[in-house]
Amino acid sequence: MKPITELHHFTPQVQKLKPSATLRINEHSHALAQQGREIIRFGFGQSPFPVPESVVKALQEHAHEKAYLPVKGLPRLRQAFAKYIQRKTGLPAETEDMLIGPGSKELIFHLQMAHESVLLLPSPSWVSYEPQASLLSKPVHWIDTQAENHWRLQPEALEKACLQFPDTHKLLILNYPNNPSGTTYPPELLEALAEVARKYNLLILADEIYGDMHHDGQHQSIAHYYPEGTIISTGLSKWCGAGGWRLGAFYFPSRWRKLLDIMAIIASESFTSVSSPIQYAAATAFEGNEDIEEYLSASRKILKTAAQYVQRKLTEAGIPTAAPEGGFYLFPDFSSLRQGNEQPEYLRNSAAFCDYLLEKTGVALLPGSDFGRPPEELTARLSYVDFDGEQALEAARHLPVDETFLQKYCPKVCRGADLIVEFVKGA
Ligand SMILES: Cc1ncc(COP(=O)(O)O)c(C=O)c1O
Repeated sequence: MKPITELHHFTPQVQKLKPSATLRINEHSHALAQQGREIIRFGFGQSPFPVPESVVKALQEHAHEKAYLPVKGLPRLRQAFAKYIQRKTGLPAETEDMLIGPGSKELIFHLQMAHESVLLLPSPSWVSYEPQASLLSKPVHWIDTQAENHWRLQPEALEKACLQFPDTHKLLILNYPNNPSGTTYPPELLEALAEVARKYNLLILADEIYGDMHHDGQHQSIAHYYPEGTIISTGLSKWCGAGGWRLGAFYFPSRWRKLLDIMAIIASESFTSVSSPIQYAAATAFEGNEDIEEYLSASRKILKTAAQYVQRKLTEAGIPTAAPEGGFYLFPDFSSLRQGNEQPEYLRNSAAFCDYLLEKTGVALLPGSDFGRPPEELTARLSYVDFDGEQALEAARHLPVDETFLQKYCPKVCRGADLIVEFVKGA
């Protein structure tokens, strides 16, 4: 029988979906690897580190848990998450303010479904917010940011956007430390953004999934300045290295309890509840212990050293790259490669550039256009986590984490940086 491909079989929302440039780059990397080429995977955004031992043990101990759990989450986990939010932000978080889901991505999708609003997105932003909105036929308004401001949303730009939608509810997704830029917000900027948010009665989703991956352990939440209107989103995927476990968590201010309850109804009609053993293990993770603190401190040291090394190499080669502050990413701008009037085809846009760089050097980056940047801008996301995190973490317990350490335990990161620099010099 003929396969069904005609678009009229599908809903209008999904008809608009396009395979991303990211998917193409991943397929291209895969094909090159199969030909025996060495690929430096700077396109992936997965934690390189194993799940902390105490959390793995908790999962093993609860493997027999088989019952459906309450839709909003295991009470012990919601309580542990409330205490975690109290510890991290000083906010009076209660067990009732917490919602657990199968990854923060799903919760973000459900939030967008539940809240009648225009979505305000700083550009660049993580790849999934906009397609989620598009699936829900939700309007999206991009707000530009600039490299010279470290890709941080500015209060004036936020205010201008708010003025464009005077009669509509507005949802701002603010992600920091940021994917893709690797930068975060200083307290005074969070405070200034909070003032605008209060003036225009915004709902903010603070996507703080990389909060514990702040390289100096100094993460601060905008909820501190705008507690009444900020939902905090986090999960186990990044700081706990457990992306595949699929556990996300939202903290709601009490004013937004109704939204939490509505999202719980959506959950009850969709995923029901998160896998029981995973929730027990997550309770251990959010409760925290010495093992986890040591793990976080060693992870941060490694990430910081790798990030700074690559950023320095790129900057020295004339490729401006905002100084990294947290997470796994850098966001270099290769526009300086354009010289004179005649441009080679590969400098036409960021997707063509990433394809060409991969073909020539084996280094996979993701094009800035997938993160909401204008296609002609030659920005790209570089994820410096192509190394064996288990080995690196073990070594970081007894060795200084410096350039010698990187050369030994993160050789592909160093080699990837060198290959890009060679390419830039030869271009
Ligand atoms: C900025 C950001 N937010 C949310 C997510 C989703 O994380 P998860 O669904 O694994 O909790 C990711 C994952 O890559 C991310 O980078």
